[in-house]
Amino acid sequence: MTDFELESEVAKRRTFAIISHPDAGKTTITEKVILYGKLIKKAGTVKGKKSGVYATSDWMEMEKERGISVTTSVMQFPYADCLVNLLDTPGHADFSEDTYRTLTAVDSCLMVIDAAKGVEERTVKLMEVTRLRDTPIITFINKMDRDIRDPIDLLDEVERVLNIACAPITWPVGSGKEFKGVYHLLRDETILYQSGQGHTIQPIRVIKGLNNPELKIRLGYYADELREQITLLKGASHSFDLSEFLAGRLTPVFFGTALGNFGVDHMLDGLTAWAPPPQPRKTNKRLVSPIESAFSGFVFKIQANMDPKHRDRIAFMRVCSGRFAKGMKLHHVRLNKDVLVPQVLSFMAGERDHLEEAYPGDIIGLHNHGTIQIGDTFTCGEQFHFVGIPNFAPELFQRIRLRDPLKQKQLLKGLMQLAEEGAVQLFRPEQNNDLIVGAVGVLQFDMVVHRLMVEYGVDAIYEPVKIVTARWVYSENPRAMQQFIQKNNSALALDGNGNLTYLAPTQASLQLMIERFPDIHFAKTREQR
Ligand code: G4P
Repeated sequence: MTDFELESEVAKRRTFAIISHPDAGKTTITEKVILYGKLIKKAGTVKGKKSGVYATSDWMEMEKERGISVTTSVMQFPYADCLVNLLDTPGHADFSEDTYRTLTAVDSCLMVIDAAKGVEERTVKLMEVTRLRDTPIITFINKMDRDIRDPIDLLDEVERVLNIACAPITWPVGSGKEFKGVYHLLRDETILYQSGQGHTIQPIRVIKGLNNPELKIRLGYYADELREQITLLKGASHSFDLSEFLAGRLTPVFFGTALGNFGVDHMLDGLTAWAPPPQPRKTNKRLVSPIESAFSGFVFKIQANMDPKHRDRIAFMRVCSGRFAKGMKLHHVRLNKDVLVPQVLSFMAGERDHLEEAYPGDIIGLHNHGTIQIGDTFTCGEQFHFVGIPNFAPELFQRIRLRDPLKQKQLLKGLMQLAEEGAVQLFRPEQNNDLIVGAVGVLQFDMVVHRLMVEYGVDAIYEPVKIVTARWVYSENPRAMQQFIQKNNSALALDGNGNLTYLAPTQASLQLMIERFPDIHFAKTREQR
């Protein structure tokens, strides 16, 4: 492959994820995006939160029962001259750790806001995570076919609460039953909405120019209102600035209704035109450019039982540089070992497929037989690892124990594997044989017990434990570390990867430790080092 071919493959990739509060319309938008991407013929079959088309494992059965989505799938489709990768993320806040890490694998995000509700709590949290990498954000204000808040107020709220400038690209004409369409500020055209066309791509009806007499004929009173609003808007709002957008400081804003399948294509036009292709990525040694010919990538998620027919675990890897080709030998950096990768998977809306080649920005699935961990880097031989794929300190803890004490070995094996997947965190205290499970959200606990039973035949229960938070501890000063360990051994544990962790019984005791041991780092996040 020539440099030029690789460059052009990189240039056409757009890899993004959707961030939103539950119920804002992420699933519906995903369906429509894929309808435009021509991946499926008819919208409404992507995830089947309620229809059940997506039930592929026992754990997914549990998801379905509860109407939540916790697994990540990846969809790839062509749009305009681009190849778009959309990474789906768990919708439920209890699985936010997975979502946070998925956000490390994308180059841009689509923020979806419910036009009636405005900026909601989970969106605020997810925006904080995107800020760690200044990820460019595109905004879609959804549900314009409902009674909504004043669009100017909505933009003000986004600017104030999320601290990002808004540049409206489209502007709504009416709302609710009176939603007529949008005016595209850059194209100077009004695109008319027709209700009841949610499952198909609507024929586009456009009126060029704001002073076109047809506008008055079609929109009546709304034509005058629109002209006034656009004059006002041009004076008062930010105009689109590509470099501000790429720096994560300004977001282009689109209005529409995902259910009515209107406006999603305008957003996709913006995404493919402006969102960045794969960018250089930081490692512990140097910046790695996507157009380097040597392959590299990192694992951001491990998922068990994607399919009950293949009881296996899949590591999701983001390709960062070079070309991946089937049958390639990869260097597993943490183990400092070359591994042959006979089969690699791609994921298309939940269907697995064998993959021949992949380029930067693509997500590929490796079979994991226990040697791959979240954060692992694969290269063509060079010894570096990508940074910025953290574990987050859990906030909830329980002691887990067996109902049947004979299955201790299976329990430990199951927990170790679930921890390695990132489904939950495991801590083993230094002074006893307890097994402590740490989670970011309560549902993770239920999932662990469920999966231990189904996958490992282990019947486990929880007991309360007095731990409020965890910190990974390390120090450049071995003497200080020794002293700290001697004094606090009863509160120390090893996590699933063997890292020393302080399990704080109260927030006050953590505070006290930080004051008493200034040479010890108490880290809230942990990265592979
Ligand atoms: P999520 O993945 O972000 O959680 O949201 P999802 O797409 O599942 O949408 C949540 C609800 O909002 C869905 O209703 C969906 O049909 C509806 N919705 C999404 N986009 C629009 C839109 O543009 N306009 C209107 N009016 N509704 C929209 P539901 O779960 O089927 O039923 P219900 O919650 O209305 O009872």
